[in-house]
Amino acid sequence: MLGAIHFGVLAACFVLFVPMAMAGWHLSRHKMLFFSGALFISLAVCVHLTPYFPSVSDIVASVSSVVVYDHRVSCINEVNQIVWDVRPRPRNNNGSSKLDYFEKNWDWVRSRKVQSCEFQKLDKLDVSELLNGSWIVVAGDSQARFVALSLLGLVLGSGSEAMGSVREELFKRHSDYSIVVKEIGMKVDFVWAPYEKDLDDLVVSYKKKNKFPDVVIMGSGLWHMLHVNNASDFGFQLKELRSHVELLVPVRTKGEEGGGGSVSGRSMHMFWIGMPVLINGMLNTDEKKERMSDTVWHEYDRSLGESKILRQMGGPLVLLDVQSFTWNCGPQCTLDGMHYDSAVYDAAVHVMLNALLIESNQTL
Ligand SMILES: *[C@@H]1O[C@H](CO)[C@@H](O)[C@H](O)[C@H]1NC(C)=O
Ligand SMILES: *[C@@H]1O[C@H](CO)[C@@H](O)[C@H](O)[C@H]1NC(C)=O
Ligand SMILES: *[C@@H]1O[C@H](CO)[C@@H](O)[C@H](O)[C@H]1NC(C)=O
Repeated sequence: MLGAIHFGVLAACFVLFVPMAMAGWHLSRHKMLFFSGALFISLAVCVHLTPYFPSVSDIVASVSSVVVYDHRVSCINEVNQIVWDVRPRPRNNNGSSKLDYFEKNWDWVRSRKVQSCEFQKLDKLDVSELLNGSWIVVAGDSQARFVALSLLGLVLGSGSEAMGSVREELFKRHSDYSIVVKEIGMKVDFVWAPYEKDLDDLVVSYKKKNKFPDVVIMGSGLWHMLHVNNASDFGFQLKELRSHVELLVPVRTKGEEGGGGSVSGRSMHMFWIGMPVLINGMLNTDEKKERMSDTVWHEYDRSLGESKILRQMGGPLVLLDVQSFTWNCGPQCTLDGMHYDSAVYDAAVHVMLNALLIESNQTL
């Protein structure tokens, strides 16, 4: 594979530098363009002739697999790139909640790179197909609960009757919740796990039972910040969690890839729900205002990075960047400076699903 990369780089250098060297010899601009055009065409001809030369076609095949692989990796890196459009609603609402004063829309950034990844908001049908027969676990604190709510809203229809009872059950304080969506044989567990140690215990329990969910979405930090208030301890707990997760994520075997259908039956996919931006002045107790300061928040964020639990740091979990979503959605999107409008968690779910499509090597 390295040979293939070298070959590609060499070819690119050829096209780029040979004409530049010629320009150094006082060729006119037109001649230079001619030369680089000619070089490009001859390389293209070579590429098209390769099927007749097996060894070269191997090289070309591996170049293209490198490109596809790179595309997947780089799209995972771009999947959190969303922008918000938050504007006041025309004054016609019943004033049920201050959050309703603003209309919140979001979409992926319209940059060339992000557009090439073709991210999309999935509808109920897409999601049914993708998550058909899978076991999904959402674990963590209240942020995770909102993510679970958004996910179920997408699967069941947010205005549906079923969703009404889900909401009621899910928000019985501090308890676990489990539901099977029969139509698509999908199981969703919400596990109340406000501390990193709870997440760790959960992960270890899957290992013990040797039964693994298809997708695990987890996140915590706010409880630790409020009740322990020690960023280095938070980092320590995350490192423990990371080491157990790494034991558990099965080795990805190449043979399993490909084929359509759902994400189940393949390797486990894991996500981390990032910490929201905390708007100190809006926090609803003095204790929170004091302990959950910006300084402490940043210390916790640094510990998260240093724990190397996230994919971008070489770890196993793909980040759902709630920090950037909440920052960009802004103060209009929260009432208590900590929990945000459902639009934020909907965005996190769509980001997760798009990452899942990339991870499980599927297209819709
Ligand atoms: C207030 O809410 C009711 C019921 O949801 C609705 O029928 C009505 O049109 C709303 N009024 C305004 C001014 O939006
Ligand atoms: C779910 O999978 C089952 C079995 O593979 C299939 O029969 C069914 O049509 C699928 N349902 C959806 C909604 O994709
Ligand atoms: C913070 O946690 C670390 C690691 O657990 C511990 O060594 C340290 O003593 C704690 N600091 C305080 C002030 O409790």
